[in-house]
Amino acid sequence: MKFNTKVIHGNQQHEPATGAVMVPIYQTSTFAQSSPGKHKGYEYSRAANPTRTALENAFAAIENGTHGFAFSSGLAATDCVLRLLNPNDEIIAGDDLYGGTYRMFTKLFEKYGLKFTFVDMDNPENVKKAITKNTKLIWMETPTNPLLKVADISAITKIAKEHNILSVVDNTFATPYLQQPLDLGADIVMHSATKYLGGHSDVVMGALMVKDAKLAEDLHFIQFAGGGIAGPMDSFLALRGVKTLAIRMQRHCENGMAVAEFLENHPKVEQVYYPGLKSHANHDIAKKQMRDFGGMLSFRLKGDSKKDTFTLLENLKVFTLAESLGGVESLANHPATMTHASIPKEEREKLGITDSLIRLSVGIEDKEDLIADLESVLKLV
Ligand SMILES: Cc1ncc(COP(=O)(O)O)c(C=O)c1O
Repeated sequence: MKFNTKVIHGNQQHEPATGAVMVPIYQTSTFAQSSPGKHKGYEYSRAANPTRTALENAFAAIENGTHGFAFSSGLAATDCVLRLLNPNDEIIAGDDLYGGTYRMFTKLFEKYGLKFTFVDMDNPENVKKAITKNTKLIWMETPTNPLLKVADISAITKIAKEHNILSVVDNTFATPYLQQPLDLGADIVMHSATKYLGGHSDVVMGALMVKDAKLAEDLHFIQFAGGGIAGPMDSFLALRGVKTLAIRMQRHCENGMAVAEFLENHPKVEQVYYPGLKSHANHDIAKKQMRDFGGMLSFRLKGDSKKDTFTLLENLKVFTLAESLGGVESLANHPATMTHASIPKEEREKLGITDSLIRLSVGIEDKEDLIADLESVLKLV
């Protein structure tokens, strides 16, 4: 199947009892047994639930994996991956990451003896240099949140394989419509399915996808034993979202490029971060590994004034000022005070997450309305 077909039909079947075209919401915690241990494949919904199974099968299909796992949030999925490791193991991660991922690494897992090294993944050589005999995992986020940095997935997974290190890609910003990391050598793909996979800002969920049976068995054990599973109602909503992923992404990409070009040419804008622009540091790598460039971008104002930035954000009419991203509606976010406030100020500023940095999740409205909204608030500063 090609991708547009796969998001709708990949690993799906009509409900066998009634022929229902959409999987029902099996809102049940448990399943009757005819004799102890004798059942129809389902025992207890933490282990498996038919609505979640349908979604997990769809997750596997869209990332070209063999197994998918649905969690109660993106961070619960990340937590599951880290539990594969043991004390004294080392992890190399990108230096620009979603703030909550950084917080989990440094505030939750360091105290259990895991050691994290953060490197600039713009250049794969930086990853190679950071490897030690204890390195067990390489964590990539590409494009990154919020600076849209792009890492060369094939180059870094090649280095990981040479050293027998597991590689993970947080594919939340790109989605499998734009890039499929398992095909580029990654062992695990992770998503905040809260974002583009769900697509409608109505569910918080995480996903993991793999194509190795042993890794799938280990992750399923942690999912079951740790308990951070997605519920049936949320699984139904996310499955409905996945079916329109391809068509939504087409419009996100078209609008994302139009907004990025508008901002890049605006006299009050200092810099735009969007992998589709020639000015992007790794535009060539983005062109090589991505089908298009998505709906996420960030920009910084000339003068870097927090006051001007707040004026701009408070007066937007079509864009909503809110955390999160990847839904059909356009959102604006101020990373320094919102999504990335958990990163210490000096760290943030060293990376470029300054007071005037604004992150946009460009939705699927008419691009003329989005540009007019930005044009009118830029007149106020
Ligand atoms: C790139 C990325 N990874 C992971 C997460 C965490 O996902 P969740 O909020 O679903 O726990 C987010 C949330 O914004 C994100 O943007």
